[in-house]
Amino acid sequence: MGNKNFVTIEGIDGAGKTTIIDELKKIFLKDDKYFLKNKEVIFTREPGNSGNEFLLKTRDLIVNYDILPITELFLLQANRAEHIQKFIIPNLKNNKIVICDRFTDSTFVYQGLKGVKDQDIIITSKLATLDVNPKRTYLIDLDPKIARKRIIKNKRTTNKFDNYDLNFHQQIRKRYLQLAKKENKRFLIIDGNKKVNEIVEIIIKDLK
Ligand code: TYD
Repeated sequence: MGNKNFVTIEGIDGAGKTTIIDELKKIFLKDDKYFLKNKEVIFTREPGNSGNEFLLKTRDLIVNYDILPITELFLLQANRAEHIQKFIIPNLKNNKIVICDRFTDSTFVYQGLKGVKDQDIIITSKLATLDVNPKRTYLIDLDPKIARKRIIKNKRTTNKFDNYDLNFHQQIRKRYLQLAKKENKRFLIIDGNKKVNEIVEIIIKDLK
């Protein structure tokens, strides 16, 4: 069972997660903090969280270096352990809502596709997260061809994952949809073709 104040957003690169989160931040902003129905909301992302040098450095190693999938797993879980145990869990204990851009589902999907065994991801995730998991996950689902066009159009800086071929991203999308089907109580699949404000409306309605 997941933690009811812990929410994650998942999807392929270019699906629109960042845009959606930026929009949520605008709506929730009040006196330099974010609120939903008087409850403070903390936004964060994996791998890495701004302002923490260890997280930023490990993030850089993960997304910019040509390393073995198993090395990616160890770095991701090290990053995650620091992130969840020192940042996410204390915020949840203070009764805040935590919205995280990517979490362990990304590991099952990306490192899983690269050949890391599910069992190894399960064990290391448990060690990193102390079994603290999201109760709700929004999967922004989009055709990788459209996602690619968006990345080019927005001239977003790319990392090594963005540069994998279309087939890779199609497999990633498929894995996300399989995961969402398997855990259909936790996942809410949202069509990434919808307008940003429509997606944001769906998420806010569901969060409430
Ligand atoms: P992200 O922050 O979404 O990239 P961007 O800077 O483009 O917004 O994530 C960086 C990459 O890390 C993404 O392509 C997927 C990858 N990733 C994994 O492979 N496994 C994981 O467990 C996580 C959290 C991310």
